[in-house]
Amino acid sequence: MSQHYQHDVLVIGSGAAGLTLALTLPEHLRIAVLSKGNLANGSTYWAQGGVAAVLDDTDTVDSHVEDTLNAGAGLCREDSVRFTVEHSREAIQWLIDQGVPFTRDDQTSHEDGSFEFHLTREGGHSHRRIIHAADATGAAIFKTLLEQAKLRGNIELLEQRVAVDLITERKLDLAGERCLGAYVLNRTSGEVDTYGARFVILATGGAAKVYLYTSNPDGACGDGIAMAWRAGCRVGNLEFNQFHPTCLYHPQAKSFLVTEALRGEGALLKLPNGERFMQRFDERAELAPRDIVARAIDHEMKRLGVDCVYLDISHKPADFIKTHFPTVYERCLDFGIDITREPIPVVPAAHYTCGGVVVDQSGHTDVPGLYAIGETSFTGLHGANRMASNSLLECFVYARSAAADIVQKLNDVSAPANLPTWDASQVTDSDEDVIIAHNWDELRRFMWDYVGIVRTNKRLQRAEHRVRLLLDEIDEFYSNYKVSRDLIELRNLAQVAELMIRSAMERKESRGLHYTLDYPQQLPEAKDTILRPPIYGD
Ligand code: FUM
Repeated sequence: MSQHYQHDVLVIGSGAAGLTLALTLPEHLRIAVLSKGNLANGSTYWAQGGVAAVLDDTDTVDSHVEDTLNAGAGLCREDSVRFTVEHSREAIQWLIDQGVPFTRDDQTSHEDGSFEFHLTREGGHSHRRIIHAADATGAAIFKTLLEQAKLRGNIELLEQRVAVDLITERKLDLAGERCLGAYVLNRTSGEVDTYGARFVILATGGAAKVYLYTSNPDGACGDGIAMAWRAGCRVGNLEFNQFHPTCLYHPQAKSFLVTEALRGEGALLKLPNGERFMQRFDERAELAPRDIVARAIDHEMKRLGVDCVYLDISHKPADFIKTHFPTVYERCLDFGIDITREPIPVVPAAHYTCGGVVVDQSGHTDVPGLYAIGETSFTGLHGANRMASNSLLECFVYARSAAADIVQKLNDVSAPANLPTWDASQVTDSDEDVIIAHNWDELRRFMWDYVGIVRTNKRLQRAEHRVRLLLDEIDEFYSNYKVSRDLIELRNLAQVAELMIRSAMERKESRGLHYTLDYPQQLPEAKDTILRPPIYGD
């Protein structure tokens, strides 16, 4: 039988953003944190590089802001960038206080025997400002925050819970617009339960799974973006999908990223004949922003008809490589590649969704009581191209400001009453799951082929036509059959794909990550692409 639950705060997503928010809220609040699978299945766990922040005395807020604006190709919101960077030091201090074991720099010893933190460099950054835990920063942060959350009596960590849709006053035909909770599939019982909450947080990550090749884990299906859209929130800049230039190219290596920090520490990109090529595309060569590096690799692969290019750090001492990049070293060795001696075969793959649900500086969406934080959100920080390691920073800064906003509003918001139970009376068990698998494959392939690194009007039109057909088919399936995780994810992914295609079609220029052969120039004025859901009636 389906259950009803009541919490003060419902956090959908258990990565860096969701856990930070839960840990920042006061301990008298009852908080539920939901994960679609196991708690560690999100993208945070796999983040290698680190967190960008102004920590060195020779670095400045202005410099970090300027680098971010440059990478964002004229489309960052300067107030969001400044807000994020100005709060970077305190966000890092909070992580250190939680116990995150960031790597220390043994070159900077103090009299008491302690070391300062090691800061590495990544594309677009003019300073060393990436604090990290070797090359497994996300795992270190996640494990620390999870341990802290488990110590809290007020935080329930619930696995195998897939949010189906948000419950809003508008959907229930009540007066008002507020978000009241969510319907959530419990994968263990098979029932859809009702979660009422005074505040609901979408921290579900991005939608890179919309592409055939991605660095992201399986859950990156744009769930939060699709749910927010259906609930009446605007979305912004969804045409800007970042492709990470260097994912391991090996038939058995599913989505393994080779961190940009390798290039920060001197790794070189090479063609199969050993020749370097990045200096032909940008004077910053291997440390140019990601859009430039990914496009250059794509160009060279197509020009030469090769399956991959190579990333070479073998000129550095083996000890240095093994200490700084133990994860990459071990993983490549699993596939017979010794990176201390030979170059790594790499290709670009979908990595990060720069657009998302439109929010203000408190992470608040257009729907009262509903927040979006982390990759789900569109804060204006990333503009047309996210600078490396700014995304984890955004998670911490905005999770903390959303928590502060909730605290301020606590006295004004009471618990929602009498939410209706999920109606499963009209649906039966599916006998045609092959449709779901087929549509998943089709969607991800045409998004890769038609809405990838290089776009054209014709490719986008083809993609638009196909996604509409898929949406109709998925809608029909959703109306007739019981929900499953695969169906919920496919429905969300197709919705977000459609929004990405529409956004890409609206942009009649090439800027940052959006590159189209039909409009290769950048327009003089930079404008966001904001889509409004049909409930606005326009
Ligand atoms: O290359 C990396 O380690 C990725 C960093 C990021 O996406 O910010």
